Amino acid sequence: MTLMTDSFHLNATTRIPAVGFGTYLVSPEDAAGVIETAIKAGYRHIDTASGYSNEEAVGEGIRAGLAATGLRREDIFVTTKLWPGNPAWGQEPKTGAETKAEFEKSLSLLGLDYIDLYLIHAPYGGDQRLAQWQALVEMQSAGKARAIGVSNFNESHLEEIRAAGLPMPDANQIELHPWSQKPALIAYMAKHGIAPIAYSSLVPLSTWRVAPGQDSATTEEMSASGGIFTEMAAKYGVSEAQLLLRWGVQNGYAVLPKSMNPDRMRQNLDLAGFEIDAADMAQMATMDRGDGVAWATGDPSKAA
Ligand SMILES: NC(=O)c1ccc[n+]([C@@H]2O[C@H](COP(=O)([O-])OP(=O)(O)OC[C@H]3O[C@@H](n4cnc5c(N)ncnc54)[C@H](OP(=O)(O)O)[C@@H]3O)[C@@H](O)[C@H]2O)c1
Repeated sequence: MTLMTDSFHLNATTRIPAVGFGTYLVSPEDAAGVIETAIKAGYRHIDTASGYSNEEAVGEGIRAGLAATGLRREDIFVTTKLWPGNPAWGQEPKTGAETKAEFEKSLSLLGLDYIDLYLIHAPYGGDQRLAQWQALVEMQSAGKARAIGVSNFNESHLEEIRAAGLPMPDANQIELHPWSQKPALIAYMAKHGIAPIAYSSLVPLSTWRVAPGQDSATTEEMSASGGIFTEMAAKYGVSEAQLLLRWGVQNGYAVLPKSMNPDRMRQNLDLAGFEIDAADMAQMATMDRGDGVAWATGDPSKAA
């Protein structure tokens, strides 16, 4: 059995599990049962967001999962996210005070008294973006969030925080897989101690978000693997999903696979029994195809 890291550093007192459970497109009707199943399967990190409209049911699922396994609150790592508002969609950006109120609302819906990682979901806050970040800094100082970060921020958004003299985020949650590797952003984040968290790791699968209503933006550019991942997965005796998730963890990225299926849930957690060799990692490093596809409405990191 190959040893691998089971968590990554976020700040002096907080580590994030290497494999977490994603809940985007998990409906409020399904979420409680799915989260309970995920915790029973071994997941110790649940990733949700106010924008997923499922926090209340996710909270129910966490309580049911803890009861079923005998675990305690501190054994589970919970991430949720501020919806920052988006002027381009006719929404007012949230002010600092509104950001704090949104955080309290998420806590109450989840039924928790602290969050392990609170993120600004996207850099849509416009002239309130720094006020939103300042609010997160204050909530971390108050002990309400153990770690704080951002999501879908590019280098210029992170530079804005640095230039304002504010503490840098503990993490930036971004789309990362062999077809979207963001090397310049990853290098900048490494320089400034910002941990990458990978979402939509499974984009290269031909079955990624194909069910009706799952707003995937799979394009021609992001749809043909040419069989390379199939061949590599066969070589290690694993599934393509396991290969793609292991690629993230081996690069030092926490990953967040979402699955409604208990067998696939277990499979996605089972990444410790193989290691992608240096030649295959080098080959995968050459496969970058650009910014990614997970946001059907366009690349959020390009937003003002
Ligand atoms: N911050 C952001 O802006 C942002 C954006 C996107 C996602 N996220 C977070 O990251 C999480 C993961 O990203 P995602 O939901 O976009 O996609 P993902 O986890 O990369 O892929 C999910 C898709 O792959 C399928 N799948 C899962 N495991 C599989 C396996 N072993 N074999 C074959 N197919 C498998 C799922 O279907 P089944 O359910 O049928 O198994 C679903 O269609 C989200 O749930 C969310 O928590 C954050």
